[in-house]
Amino acid sequence: MSRDLSYAAVIARKNEIMKASLGIDFQDFIQSPIAFDYERMMRETGFSHDDLVRIQRETKVGNTPLFELTRLTEAVRKIAGPGKGATILVKDEAANASGSFKARRASISAYQAMIKGYKGMIAATSGNYGAAVASQAAQRGLKCIIVQEVYDSRGVGQPEIVEKGRACEAYGAEVLKLTVGPELFYMLLRTLEETGFFNASLYTPFGIRGVETLGTEIAEQVRGRYGKDPDAVIITHAGGGNLTGTARGLLQAGCNDTRVVACSVDLSGLHMASDIDFNRKSFTTGHTGFGVPFATWPDRVDVPRNAARSLRYMDEYHLVSQGEVFYMTELLTKLEGLERGPAGNISLTAAVALARQMDRDQIVVVQETEYTGAGKHHNSQLSFARENGIEVRRGDPKENQPGKSIVIPERLEQVWGREQDIDKLRLSYLKNAANILPAAQWSENDLAFLAADVKKTPAWVQQHMADLAK
Ligand SMILES: Cc1ncc(COP(=O)(O)O)c(C=O)c1O
Repeated sequence: MSRDLSYAAVIARKNEIMKASLGIDFQDFIQSPIAFDYERMMRETGFSHDDLVRIQRETKVGNTPLFELTRLTEAVRKIAGPGKGATILVKDEAANASGSFKARRASISAYQAMIKGYKGMIAATSGNYGAAVASQAAQRGLKCIIVQEVYDSRGVGQPEIVEKGRACEAYGAEVLKLTVGPELFYMLLRTLEETGFFNASLYTPFGIRGVETLGTEIAEQVRGRYGKDPDAVIITHAGGGNLTGTARGLLQAGCNDTRVVACSVDLSGLHMASDIDFNRKSFTTGHTGFGVPFATWPDRVDVPRNAARSLRYMDEYHLVSQGEVFYMTELLTKLEGLERGPAGNISLTAAVALARQMDRDQIVVVQETEYTGAGKHHNSQLSFARENGIEVRRGDPKENQPGKSIVIPERLEQVWGREQDIDKLRLSYLKNAANILPAAQWSENDLAFLAADVKKTPAWVQQHMADLAK
């Protein structure tokens, strides 16, 4: 008898589809509606750090250069107060196969799929991750299908997403191109069930463990060259895997005092699931439309428990505007001779604000770059924004209004961004947890899990939940 392919029937089979396509039974780790054994789940991927490095070397991943941005550092020192202006370094992740850090994430899944005898891999993503999965699958002799949300209801695709689809196809993947809406998860499940391929979800422990090498490399390279640990590492944040994996790697290397700073483009006011707003943003990742909901409820993803849990590791969260990132993209090219893509330049933008306030003998690391070209290029993005009725002008970036105007700074002094209150995010996470299980029913184990998940003590969690209830 053929299977029922209605939306409801396929969604109802999600647990069995996940189990078959990943080989992980999440029930083994789940302790309550709230808590699960996160560290055991990560350990039971079965890979040591040396395994991760070896697997990644086989497919052109990792060991990327760390550059000192001497001319940018000099420019920041000119506008900083006396004794201020930390050295800015950048980890050139564009050097990975497929051109971004996402290759680290895809490489371990591809290896796992290969050794477990799967014939191919599937991922639902509109981002660089698709190209990374396709590139890693190609090198492991696996088939690859990418399910991508590309179009609004007019059939118009954001230039960056169109470029990412092209890259997936260039690496040999079949790309299922969808309009924005709820069918993405349904299509993913259906395709996994039909093909029996491996589920290379962005949020599995394999993906996140793959990013740990980025953190350990930063620690080793900074220590090797400067004889000290980085003072701050700035990480572009969307779904949180970039930050989680990198911070785990930094901690494994013993960088216990390094500030882990998240950074996203501020798109507040735009709705990510809205057909109209879909094409009114010039950034397709690294923005608050993903960054805030994922930080405040990581388990909203396509696997039962998310291995990317950014509030566990985050010390600060910086926001920047689209115009500031476009300005920094040009500056990186003109000052440092590096033409790189949008996402990494988000953390570069925050690095200017941070370095300006830090001492001269301190070190701040921009944790990644990505490749650029075609629709990823800021000129394509700005033309597309104008076609969609967005005003583009020079001026004070504080006047930037997501979805309405992009204000490109006139001078480096105007690049500041702003800090986001991360205690607010922590409280919002706790409220989301209380919607799953009322706070009065949280066990001691739940409290300990929640405290670790927001990088606070159980007493802090209890006190704030009591305040919220008043
Ligand atoms: C180049 C690049 N940097 C950063 C990010 C953000 O990573 P995460 O979603 O894990 O927070 C992405 C994700 O789309 C990306 O492609």
